[in-house]
Amino acid sequence: MKTIIEPFRIKSVEPLRRTTIEERQALLEKAGYNLFLLDAADILIDLLTDSGTSAMSTEQWAAMMRGDESYAGSASYFRLKRVVEDLTGFRHVIPTHQGRAAERILFTVMCRPGHIVPNNTHFDTTRANVEFTGARAEDLVCAAASDTQSRAPFKGDMDVAALERLIETEGHDKIPLVMITVTNNSGGGQPVSMANIEAASAVAHRHGIPFYLDACRFAENAYLIQQREPGYAGCSPKQIAQKMFSLADGCTFSAKKDAFANIGGLLCTNDDRLAAQETNLLILTEGFPTYGGLAGRDLDAIAVGLEEVLHPDYLEYRIVSTAYLGRHIADRGVPIVEPPGGHAIYIDAGRMLPHIPRHEFPAQSLAVELYRHAGIRSVEIGSVMFGEHARNELLRLAIPRRVYTQSHIDYVVEAILEVNARKDSLRGYAIVEEPPFLRHFSCRFRPL
Ligand SMILES: Cc1ncc(COP(=O)(O)O)c(C=O)c1O
Repeated sequence: MKTIIEPFRIKSVEPLRRTTIEERQALLEKAGYNLFLLDAADILIDLLTDSGTSAMSTEQWAAMMRGDESYAGSASYFRLKRVVEDLTGFRHVIPTHQGRAAERILFTVMCRPGHIVPNNTHFDTTRANVEFTGARAEDLVCAAASDTQSRAPFKGDMDVAALERLIETEGHDKIPLVMITVTNNSGGGQPVSMANIEAASAVAHRHGIPFYLDACRFAENAYLIQQREPGYAGCSPKQIAQKMFSLADGCTFSAKKDAFANIGGLLCTNDDRLAAQETNLLILTEGFPTYGGLAGRDLDAIAVGLEEVLHPDYLEYRIVSTAYLGRHIADRGVPIVEPPGGHAIYIDAGRMLPHIPRHEFPAQSLAVELYRHAGIRSVEIGSVMFGEHARNELLRLAIPRRVYTQSHIDYVVEAILEVNARKDSLRGYAIVEEPPFLRHFSCRFRPL
């Protein structure tokens, strides 16, 4: 059979509520045209994020019933630790309430003012947590990433020559760690090749610098390596993921992505001294080391999710269904970041709306219009989110795992094509109120 189906059936459903265009216009005005400030009940199809929005499986719900809520030494922790050790090989597995808590602890322990942390592209919370310590976050993504239309297979790769130059000019003692984000969320969800992870790891280690993965979407990255990188077609996604982790000294991980959990994160390392410092900080804000910031039942949901996410049928469906959305809009004239990656389709709003300059936020304009037109929520990944660090003006349509069916996606395709047909009528926005950090979460806009 050629048709690739959703490899699950639905046992429990959640109704969706329709609204009219007039209602949505009023809701937009009330929210200052910031889609983060809308109530979820007013959204028809929510593609704001794939984070924490997955549908859990029957096995995950069953595992939650086995959750051990003991304060110390919970059996749930040891079940999770076994799964994480088998997958990553890391000796220390520290649970946190989500990925950014792992980042905060890692960078607080490792970074000082004047330090520099290179990454292919920092995610927004990763950059904010590096900068909060006084260190500088340096994006070193490969040149192919800047051409959104190129179909190069691994546009998430780090520019390893630039990494080498940075270490040589700044000195290895200024660089407490090198990090690679798989897949590169802020860079269009593009995967990183194994060859690139190997090369970056080798450069870091040659200079005595620890090498870390921001491993949020490790399984999608592993599957894309299997599909696209010569030499890996015969390996399972799990074997590929194990190899990726074996090249690193530690990782941060948001279990809200490739573990199908609604909450959770991990900080892993092989360094005993670091682990002791991290655990001390963990106790201050997250909790005892065998639960971190989580309930025992969350630990069990993550343990099961980490195994399910590597199932080849699931990963094939995941990657093919994301590409389905991408191809159906791109082949009808909507510029996307090519080729489609794992968790999201990114529309190149700068290219689609050339009449709206960067400082008038073309991707925000498109996000607002898609909500007004069809009740679909997406997110700007451009100058609103990253200010002057933005490389492109992208609109991300993130696809929650195992949540929407093909007809939902067909509705999204139809809506995007209708907005595209009258794209010249879209106008820019100005920011009228903004907070000091992570402004995209709560700033307010005015239409121009
Ligand atoms: C690449 C990347 N790193 C880190 C994070 C932060 O994870 P969390 O939202 O669990 O704090 C995210 C979340 O979207 C992400 O995509």
